[in-house]
Amino acid sequence: MDTQLLPANEAGIAAAAALLQRGQVVAIPTETVYGLAANALDEASVGRIFAAKGRPQDNPLIVHIADTGELHRLAAGLPPEAGKLAEAFWPGPLTLVVNSAGAVAGAVSAGLGTIGVRMPAHTAALAVIREAGFPLAAPSANHSGSPSPTTAQHVLADLSGRIPLVLDGGAAPVGVESTVLSLAGEQPLLLRPGFVTCEELQEVLGRPVAVSGAVHAPLAAGERAASPGMKYTHYAPRAALTLVEGRFADYAAFVRLKAGAETGVWALYPERPDDGLSVPSVVYGRAGDSASQAAALFSALRALDDNGAATVYALAPRREGVGLAVYNRLLRAAGFRVVQV
Ligand code: TXA
Ligand code: MG
Repeated sequence: MDTQLLPANEAGIAAAAALLQRGQVVAIPTETVYGLAANALDEASVGRIFAAKGRPQDNPLIVHIADTGELHRLAAGLPPEAGKLAEAFWPGPLTLVVNSAGAVAGAVSAGLGTIGVRMPAHTAALAVIREAGFPLAAPSANHSGSPSPTTAQHVLADLSGRIPLVLDGGAAPVGVESTVLSLAGEQPLLLRPGFVTCEELQEVLGRPVAVSGAVHAPLAAGERAASPGMKYTHYAPRAALTLVEGRFADYAAFVRLKAGAETGVWALYPERPDDGLSVPSVVYGRAGDSASQAAALFSALRALDDNGAATVYALAPRREGVGLAVYNRLLRAAGFRVVQV
């Protein structure tokens, strides 16, 4: 199939809505990353998402809505905290996992009995949802396992020929996927860190948020995933990536040593003045500015592949605030390989 690329203007939005109404999948921009959308209420439509992405069937999809009332229709026994968080952070990069009322297609919740719901802060995404007339199930619009797409060109690189349309809304400003918070248990549980931070969630909730072990460590053999997405290697470039924890000067010395001993070694770190590294490098965002790092990370991972990097040493970012999301994605890209210097 030919994949059309259209700007996310009125005509593009109308074309996307028409395809979605015919049960097709369409890649749409959001503020976090591009999503591969289909009618969340229709089993056959949702099935096309899994087919186009090569996504495992046991990994549930996030449902995207354009007004908070939809949350009340899609969820069962909604806790008051959900309304509070929606009010504080929607539209925005926060996904709430709540009990499903059973309205969405079965594959969306992958048999978990819960659904992840969010209202994206992107005018084109909201317009497509409204014009289509139903909520959209949408995972990131990458091929399963590769870094999430933050531009329409990334989507085409992964899915050209597999989907009918990509709406081009420019570079996604946030750059990492939404924060996923489960409200389905006793205590609010952070399943995936994102641009909305733990600290911000705790401030609105007025109580602690627990952090899923899967954020920092691989699942033990046989362990059941609270969020199935966490068990898959993710965001991985083709290069073998290792996360390096330490001060920049020690990191630089370590990488220089590696580059002297092997070929195809690349460095990955946030831009800083006069780093003097003199090793092939991809820099992303600015040192000490986690939001700028989040915005640039996935493009940087793709750039390493485009440059033919074989081995990559990435400086471990700070884990505070949005930095936790950057750290989490890099940790997964590294397949949990971390060294201390
Ligand atoms: O920012 C985002 O969230 C982007 C844009 C397109 O909205 N979407 C996205 O979707 O990143 P995806 O499918 O790549 O990641 C969804 C994550 C997965 O880790 C999945 O396991 C988790 O959310 N998830 C979805 N529904 C869930 C549920 N009912 N229970 C637990 N985890 C869930
Ligand atoms: Mg994804």
